[in-house]
Amino acid sequence: MTMPAEDFELYRSFLYKESGLVITPEKMYLLESRLNPVVKKMEMEGLADLTAKVRMNDVTAKHAIIEAMTTNETFFFRDTHPFERFEEVVLPKIMESKPAGSTIRIWNAACSSGQEPYSLGLILRENAHKFGGYKFEITATDLSEDILDTAKRAVYTQFEVQRGMPIKMLMKYFTQQGSSWALNEDIKSMVKFEKFNLLDPMTKFPEFDVVFCRNVLIYFDQETKGKILGELRKHVSKHGFLFLGGAETVIGITDVFKAMKGERGLYIPSHSVHA
Ligand SMILES: C[S@@+](CC[C@H](N)C(=O)[O-])C[C@H]1O[C@@H](n2cnc3c(N)ncnc32)[C@H](O)[C@@H]1O
Repeated sequence: MTMPAEDFELYRSFLYKESGLVITPEKMYLLESRLNPVVKKMEMEGLADLTAKVRMNDVTAKHAIIEAMTTNETFFFRDTHPFERFEEVVLPKIMESKPAGSTIRIWNAACSSGQEPYSLGLILRENAHKFGGYKFEITATDLSEDILDTAKRAVYTQFEVQRGMPIKMLMKYFTQQGSSWALNEDIKSMVKFEKFNLLDPMTKFPEFDVVFCRNVLIYFDQETKGKILGELRKHVSKHGFLFLGGAETVIGITDVFKAMKGERGLYIPSHSVHA
Protein backbone atom coordinates (compact mmCIF):
# COMPACT_ATOMS: atom_id res chain seq x y z
CA MET A 1 0.00 0.00 0.00
CA THR A 2 1.32 3.43 -0.90
CA MET A 3 0.41 6.39 1.24
CA PRO A 4 -1.12 9.53 -0.27
CA ALA A 5 1.43 12.14 -1.38
CA GLU A 6 0.30 14.70 1.21
CA ASP A 7 0.76 12.17 4.03
CA PHE A 8 4.24 11.33 2.78
CA GLU A 9 5.00 15.07 2.73
CA LEU A 10 3.75 15.40 6.32
CA TYR A 11 6.12 12.65 7.54
CA ARG A 12 9.00 13.83 5.36
CA SER A 13 8.89 17.42 6.61
CA PHE A 14 8.41 16.63 10.30
CA LEU A 15 11.21 14.01 10.33
CA TYR A 16 13.52 16.43 8.52
CA LYS A 17 12.73 19.30 10.88
CA GLU A 18 12.94 17.32 14.10
CA SER A 19 15.68 14.76 13.43
CA GLY A 20 17.46 15.89 10.24
CA LEU A 21 16.58 12.61 8.54
CA VAL A 22 16.09 12.96 4.81
CA ILE A 23 13.46 10.69 3.27
CA THR A 24 13.12 10.78 -0.48
CA PRO A 25 10.04 9.35 -2.26
CA GLU A 26 12.07 6.23 -3.17
CA LYS A 27 12.31 5.55 0.57
CA MET A 28 8.53 5.42 0.97
CA TYR A 29 8.75 1.64 1.44
CA LEU A 30 11.15 2.16 4.37
CA LEU A 31 8.86 4.74 5.93
CA GLU A 32 5.85 2.44 5.68
CA SER A 33 7.67 -0.65 6.91
CA ARG A 34 8.90 1.22 9.98
CA LEU A 35 5.57 2.91 10.69
CA ASN A 36 3.52 -0.27 10.66
CA PRO A 37 5.02 -1.57 13.95
CA VAL A 38 4.29 1.86 15.52
CA VAL A 39 0.65 1.55 14.45
CA LYS A 40 0.50 -1.88 16.11
CA LYS A 41 2.33 -0.79 19.26
CA MET A 42 0.00 2.18 19.71
CA GLU A 43 -2.96 -0.18 19.14
CA MET A 44 -4.35 1.79 16.22
CA GLU A 45 -6.48 0.43 13.40
CA GLY A 46 -4.24 1.59 10.59
CA LEU A 47 -1.67 4.07 9.32
CA ALA A 48 -4.36 6.70 8.76
CA ASP A 49 -4.86 6.92 12.56
CA LEU A 50 -1.16 7.52 13.11
CA THR A 51 -1.09 10.15 10.36
CA ALA A 52 -4.02 11.91 12.01
CA LYS A 53 -2.07 12.03 15.30
CA VAL A 54 0.94 13.56 13.54
CA ARG A 55 -1.33 16.11 11.94
CA MET A 56 -2.59 17.02 15.43
CA ASN A 57 1.03 17.36 16.52
CA ASP A 58 0.69 14.53 19.04
CA VAL A 59 4.02 14.39 20.88
CA THR A 60 3.80 10.68 21.82
CA ALA A 61 3.12 9.61 18.24
CA LYS A 62 5.87 11.84 16.85
CA HIS A 63 8.35 10.56 19.41
CA ALA A 64 7.51 6.91 18.54
CA ILE A 65 7.95 7.66 14.83
CA ILE A 66 11.36 9.28 15.30
CA GLU A 67 12.47 6.28 17.39
CA ALA A 68 11.22 3.89 14.69
CA MET A 69 12.94 5.76 11.88
CA THR A 70 16.43 6.05 13.35
CA THR A 71 18.97 3.43 12.32
CA ASN A 72 20.94 2.23 15.31
CA GLU A 73 23.37 -0.10 13.59
CA THR A 74 26.66 -0.19 15.52
CA PHE A 75 29.19 -2.61 16.94
CA PHE A 76 32.26 -2.76 19.15
CA PHE A 77 35.46 -1.34 17.62
CA ARG A 78 33.57 -0.67 14.39
CA ASP A 79 35.98 -0.39 11.44
CA THR A 80 38.98 -1.08 13.78
CA HIS A 81 41.14 1.61 12.15
CA PRO A 82 39.67 4.69 13.95
CA PHE A 83 40.20 3.03 17.33
CA GLU A 84 43.80 2.22 16.49
CA ARG A 85 44.37 5.81 15.40
CA PHE A 86 42.68 7.06 18.58
CA GLU A 87 45.15 5.09 20.67
CA GLU A 88 48.29 5.44 18.57
CA VAL A 89 48.06 8.96 17.08
CA VAL A 90 45.33 11.05 18.64
CA LEU A 91 45.88 10.47 22.35
CA PRO A 92 49.70 10.86 22.17
CA LYS A 93 49.27 14.14 20.24
CA ILE A 94 46.75 15.46 22.74
CA MET A 95 49.09 14.57 25.58
CA GLU A 96 51.80 16.64 23.86
CA SER A 97 49.39 19.60 23.85
CA LYS A 98 48.05 19.28 27.39
CA PRO A 99 49.98 19.10 30.63
CA ALA A 100 49.83 15.93 32.71
CA GLY A 101 47.10 16.14 35.31
CA SER A 102 44.62 17.74 32.94
CA THR A 103 41.38 16.23 31.71
CA ILE A 104 41.06 14.85 28.20
CA ARG A 105 37.44 15.27 27.08
CA ILE A 106 35.90 12.94 24.54
CA TRP A 107 32.46 13.35 22.99
CA ASN A 108 30.78 10.47 21.25
CA ALA A 109 27.93 12.16 19.40
CA ALA A 110 25.33 9.63 18.08
CA CYS A 111 26.55 6.81 20.32
CA SER A 112 23.66 4.40 19.63
CA SER A 113 23.54 1.41 22.01
CA GLY A 114 26.91 2.18 23.60
CA GLN A 115 29.36 -0.06 21.76
CA GLU A 116 31.31 2.93 20.42
CA PRO A 117 31.84 4.86 23.68
CA TYR A 118 32.53 1.66 25.62
CA SER A 119 35.13 0.68 22.99
CA LEU A 120 36.83 4.00 23.76
CA GLY A 121 36.60 3.33 27.49
CA LEU A 122 38.13 -0.11 27.02
CA ILE A 123 41.07 1.36 25.09
CA LEU A 124 41.69 3.85 27.91
CA ARG A 125 41.47 1.12 30.56
CA GLU A 126 43.67 -1.33 28.65
CA ASN A 127 46.33 1.33 28.10
CA ALA A 128 46.08 3.04 31.47
CA HIS A 129 49.87 2.70 31.90
CA LYS A 130 50.45 4.88 28.79
CA PHE A 131 47.90 7.51 29.71
CA GLY A 132 48.59 7.74 33.44
CA GLY A 133 48.63 11.28 34.76
CA TYR A 134 45.60 12.27 32.68
CA LYS A 135 41.94 12.18 33.60
CA PHE A 136 39.39 11.20 30.98
CA GLU A 137 35.76 12.13 30.48
CA ILE A 138 33.62 10.39 27.88
CA THR A 139 30.30 12.06 27.08
CA ALA A 140 28.04 9.95 24.86
CA THR A 141 24.88 11.37 23.33
CA ASP A 142 22.11 10.25 21.02
CA LEU A 143 18.72 11.46 19.87
CA SER A 144 16.97 8.21 20.75
CA GLU A 145 15.92 7.71 24.37
CA ASP A 146 15.25 4.00 23.84
CA ILE A 147 18.72 3.38 22.51
CA LEU A 148 20.27 5.39 25.36
CA ASP A 149 18.47 3.12 27.85
CA THR A 150 20.04 0.12 26.11
CA ALA A 151 23.43 1.82 26.19
CA LYS A 152 23.18 2.57 29.92
CA ARG A 153 22.14 -1.02 30.66
CA ALA A 154 25.25 -2.29 28.82
CA VAL A 155 24.03 -5.87 28.53
CA TYR A 156 24.75 -7.30 25.11
CA THR A 157 23.66 -10.45 23.30
CA GLN A 158 26.08 -13.11 22.16
CA PHE A 159 25.62 -11.82 18.61
CA GLU A 160 26.44 -8.24 19.66
CA VAL A 161 29.64 -9.16 21.49
CA GLN A 162 30.72 -11.44 18.66
CA ARG A 163 30.63 -8.39 16.39
CA GLY A 164 33.97 -6.86 17.24
CA MET A 165 34.68 -7.60 20.90
CA PRO A 166 38.02 -9.43 21.24
CA ILE A 167 37.57 -12.60 23.29
CA LYS A 168 40.25 -11.57 25.78
CA MET A 169 38.43 -8.31 26.56
CA LEU A 170 35.10 -10.12 26.72
CA MET A 171 36.47 -12.43 29.43
CA LYS A 172 38.14 -9.60 31.29
CA TYR A 173 35.43 -6.92 31.29
CA PHE A 174 32.10 -8.74 30.92
CA THR A 175 30.12 -11.13 33.07
CA GLN A 176 28.00 -13.78 31.41
CA GLN A 177 24.29 -13.64 32.28
CA GLY A 178 22.60 -16.58 30.59
CA SER A 179 23.01 -15.96 26.88
CA SER A 180 23.94 -12.28 27.41
CA TRP A 181 27.04 -10.42 28.52
CA ALA A 182 26.98 -7.58 31.07
CA LEU A 183 29.74 -4.99 30.94
CA ASN A 184 31.56 -4.41 34.24
CA GLU A 185 30.63 -1.39 36.33
CA ASP A 186 34.16 -0.01 36.07
CA ILE A 187 33.91 0.51 32.29
CA LYS A 188 30.26 1.56 32.47
CA SER A 189 31.14 4.29 34.94
CA MET A 190 33.62 5.82 32.46
CA VAL A 191 30.82 6.94 30.12
CA LYS A 192 28.18 9.58 30.83
CA PHE A 193 25.10 9.29 28.60
CA GLU A 194 22.81 12.16 27.73
CA LYS A 195 20.04 12.75 25.24
CA PHE A 196 21.05 15.25 22.58
CA ASN A 197 19.77 16.11 19.12
CA LEU A 198 22.61 17.17 16.82
CA LEU A 199 20.27 19.73 15.25
CA ASP A 200 20.05 21.62 18.56
CA PRO A 201 22.44 24.36 19.71
CA MET A 202 25.53 22.81 21.30
CA THR A 203 26.15 25.68 23.70
CA LYS A 204 25.78 23.52 26.82
CA PHE A 205 28.85 21.47 25.88
CA PRO A 206 32.45 22.36 26.74
CA GLU A 207 35.40 22.14 24.33
CA PHE A 208 36.39 18.56 23.57
CA ASP A 209 39.77 17.11 22.65
CA VAL A 210 38.24 14.34 20.57
CA VAL A 211 34.83 14.04 18.93
CA PHE A 212 33.57 10.79 17.45
CA CYS A 213 30.59 11.62 15.21
CA ARG A 214 30.40 8.56 13.00
CA ASN A 215 27.77 7.14 10.72
CA VAL A 216 25.12 9.73 11.44
CA LEU A 217 25.88 12.59 9.01
CA ILE A 218 25.12 10.16 6.15
CA TYR A 219 21.42 10.48 6.99
CA PHE A 220 21.43 14.28 6.56
CA ASP A 221 21.50 16.62 3.56
CA GLN A 222 24.45 18.90 2.72
CA GLU A 223 22.97 21.91 4.50
CA THR A 224 22.37 20.01 7.75
CA LYS A 225 25.81 18.39 7.58
CA GLY A 226 27.38 21.83 7.14
CA LYS A 227 25.48 23.29 10.09
CA ILE A 228 26.38 20.39 12.39
CA LEU A 229 30.05 20.48 11.40
CA GLY A 230 30.08 24.25 11.95
CA GLU A 231 28.66 23.79 15.44
CA LEU A 232 30.99 20.89 16.21
CA ARG A 233 33.95 23.05 15.29
CA LYS A 234 33.11 25.38 18.20
CA HIS A 235 33.43 22.39 20.53
CA VAL A 236 36.65 20.86 19.22
CA SER A 237 39.71 22.48 20.74
CA LYS A 238 42.46 23.81 18.46
CA HIS A 239 44.60 20.75 19.21
CA GLY A 240 41.56 18.46 18.92
CA PHE A 241 40.38 15.78 16.49
CA LEU A 242 37.16 14.77 14.79
CA PHE A 243 36.41 11.23 13.65
CA LEU A 244 33.77 10.74 10.96
CA GLY A 245 32.44 7.48 9.51
CA GLY A 246 33.97 5.80 6.46
CA ALA A 247 31.29 7.17 4.11
CA GLU A 248 31.47 10.70 5.55
CA THR A 249 33.73 13.66 4.88
CA VAL A 250 34.02 17.42 5.38
CA ILE A 251 35.29 17.89 1.84
CA GLY A 252 32.89 19.92 -0.27
CA ILE A 253 30.78 20.74 2.80
CA THR A 254 32.79 23.01 5.06
CA ASP A 255 36.30 24.38 5.46
CA VAL A 256 36.22 24.68 9.26
CA PHE A 257 37.78 21.20 9.41
CA LYS A 258 40.29 19.60 7.08
CA ALA A 259 41.31 15.99 6.53
CA MET A 260 44.44 15.04 8.45
CA LYS A 261 47.13 14.00 5.97
CA GLY A 262 47.51 10.25 5.63
CA GLU A 263 44.77 9.59 8.19
CA ARG A 264 41.56 8.21 6.74
CA GLY A 265 38.41 9.34 8.59
CA LEU A 266 40.31 11.74 10.84
CA TYR A 267 39.79 15.53 10.69
CA ILE A 268 41.33 18.50 12.44
CA PRO A 269 40.28 22.16 12.73
CA SER A 270 41.52 24.10 9.69
CA HIS A 271 43.93 26.13 11.85
CA SER A 272 44.98 23.14 13.91
CA VAL A 273 48.28 23.08 15.74
CA HIS A 274 48.77 19.62 14.18
CA ALA A 275 48.64 20.97 10.61
C1 LIG B 1 23.99 4.19 12.55
S1 LIG B 1 24.06 4.73 14.23
C2 LIG B 1 25.79 5.04 14.42
C3 LIG B 1 26.29 4.68 15.79
C4 LIG B 1 27.79 4.82 16.01
N1 LIG B 1 28.22 6.20 15.95
C5 LIG B 1 28.58 3.97 15.05
O1 LIG B 1 29.22 4.52 14.13
O2 LIG B 1 28.58 2.75 15.17
C6 LIG B 1 23.35 6.37 14.08
C7 LIG B 1 22.87 6.95 15.39
O3 LIG B 1 22.57 8.32 15.17
C8 LIG B 1 21.47 8.68 15.98
N2 LIG B 1 20.86 9.90 15.43
C9 LIG B 1 20.10 10.04 14.32
N3 LIG B 1 19.73 11.31 14.16
C10 LIG B 1 20.28 12.01 15.19
C11 LIG B 1 20.26 13.38 15.58
N4 LIG B 1 19.59 14.29 14.88
N5 LIG B 1 20.93 13.73 16.71
C12 LIG B 1 21.61 12.81 17.43
N6 LIG B 1 21.68 11.50 17.11
C13 LIG B 1 21.01 11.12 16.00
C14 LIG B 1 20.57 7.45 15.92
O4 LIG B 1 19.66 7.41 17.01
C15 LIG B 1 21.59 6.31 15.93
O5 LIG B 1 21.80 5.81 17.22
